[in-house]
Parts: sequence; C-alpha cells; structure tokens
Amino acid sequence: MPMIHHHISALRAAIQPYRAAQRIALVPTMGNLHDGHLELVNIAKQHADIVVVSIFVNPTQFGVGEDFDSYPRTLDEDVAKLATVGADYVFAPNIDEMYPVLPPPTTVRAGAITEQLCGKTRPTHFDGVGIVVSKLFNIVQPNVAIFGQKDYQQLAIIKQLVRDLSYSIEIIGAPIVRAADGLALSSRNQYLSESERQTAPILQQELQYLAKRIGGNHQPLDVLLAASRQRITSAGFVIDYLDIKTAQLDSLKTDGSSVNFNENQQDLVILVAAWLGRARLLDNQLVTANTV
Ligand code: PAJ
Repeated sequence: MPMIHHHISALRAAIQPYRAAQRIALVPTMGNLHDGHLELVNIAKQHADIVVVSIFVNPTQFGVGEDFDSYPRTLDEDVAKLATVGADYVFAPNIDEMYPVLPPPTTVRAGAITEQLCGKTRPTHFDGVGIVVSKLFNIVQPNVAIFGQKDYQQLAIIKQLVRDLSYSIEIIGAPIVRAADGLALSSRNQYLSESERQTAPILQQELQYLAKRIGGNHQPLDVLLAASRQRITSAGFVIDYLDIKTAQLDSLKTDGSSVNFNENQQDLVILVAAWLGRARLLDNQLVTANTV
C-alpha cells in the first residue's frame, strides 16, 4: 500500500532521502481515480523510481456555482487502486494545509493561453490550476510530472508554466484513456444518466470524423465545424466549444472556400467541451501533419 501523508512537512521528510540517487515522479490528481489516472502512474513508473500521487480537490480552480461541493471524494478507494499500480506515496492535504489564506493573495496567471477554449466559460479556472500545480511542484520537487492529454489546454499551460518559472521538471503528456465505446474516462462521467452515457461517445465519434476530413476533401473548416456542431447539438449536448487549433493552441483561419492542410504541414488539434445533462465533457483529437 502507498504511504499516505496529509502534511507538507511529513511528505517532504519522507521523500527527502531518495533525492540524492533516485528519480521522483509526481502525478497530480483530484482523486476519484479511474483507469486514466492509473495509466499516468504506470507511465510515471517508467520515468522514475518513486511515484508520488497527489489527491486534492482544489477549491481555487472551481468557479462560483461549479461542482466543488459535489465533486466525488473517495480517498480510501483511491488509495486501494493506487496500490494495484505500485504508487509509493499519496499526498492528500486538507484545504488549510494548501491554502493558509483562501483565496491566496499570491496568484499564478498564465496569460493569453488561458483566455481561450475552457478559459472563456471558466475565466478563473486556470489561475487555480496554476497556483496549485506550482505549489505541488515546490512541495514535491519531482524530477518528472505526468499530466493527461485529455486536458489538452491544461497540459499546454503547465508546459508554459515550467518554461516561464524555470522549474527543473520534465513534463510528460499521457495519451487519453477511453472506455471501450470511445468515451474519454473522466471522474465527471458519473454525473451522466444511463441514457446520457449511451449518447456520450458521439463526441469522440465527431472528433474522429473531423480528423479524417480536415485534410482530405477541400471543405472549409468552418463548414465542417458547423455541420459537426449541428449534429452534436441535435444529439442533446449543449456545446461550450468545438474548435480546431494548431498543436500549440494558436488559432487557425477556418474560413475560405478551400483549405488543404496537406500544404500546411503542421500538427493540429480538434478540441471540444460540451454539456450533457449535469456533466461537462471534454475531449480532443490530435491530427499530425503526416496523416492529413
Ligand atoms: P483530474 O481531473 O483529477 O486529472 C488528473 C490528471 O489525470 C490530469 O493530468 C488529467 O489530464 C489526467 N486524466 C484525466 N482523465 C484522463 C484520461 N481519460 N486519460 C488520460 N489522462 C487523464 O486535472 C486535474 O485533476 C487538476 O486540474 C490538477 C492538475 C490535479 C490540478 O488540481
């Protein structure tokens, strides 16, 4: 079983002896772990000797009226799952331990990259992610940290944070783990009713459909996107965004009568966020230049 620590000083003391000769990996999570999270631990073990998993439902990244209170907290089950994949330490602080003053007067703002996509409807979300991840990096001081590509914008922001704040931490992006029917695993999937759960894989199917077409048939991206949005909405989703960006999250020109991405030779990413009932679902699909 992994050792659980609730206090910063105790965790630091426990992992200090490893620093000289061994590599330490950090896997930050908010708990309620599923196979996507466990895969991050598997990847962490390939890059480090000691794996620390943090479990903290971070209040600063939830907006007013969001699901902070109802977010599932399942520490005992989480620790049992982490034992099956060989995590070494669990860091599960309470709110006071992480935030002596809440909200914290010190902020970590990542700028323009946070103002698009999820940041448009969740304007304070990435500031909360920025400060909590900075704190976890300072507390654990890992050699490597693993984040899922499912939260594509979050991963891009963390890479920028590491660059701009000179963290000496290697950031690894882990592939999206999906259910058999294609739905990206998420702690929030449990908000779906049975019939919504049947509908949910449509999001991933649309991403695949778009990925096949954006290079091929000379249809303008805005036409393709509009048709996709229509189908997703008809299936019962309320779309937050469906967009195509460069892999670095720069904007693309999506209008024009003929766009052929074979000529562009750049990696693209199609990103979607949509509500289905009570659940806000997130997914994305990378389209590499040599496949379009
Ligand atoms: P959480 O939603 O618990 O996710 C923790 C990590 O698991 C993130 O890096 C996320 O991208 C990854 N993850 C979730 N579902 C995944 C899936 N289906 N496949 C692969 N990876 C997946 O993201 C957060 O927590 C928080 O914002 C956090 C970074 C912990 C800061 O509070």
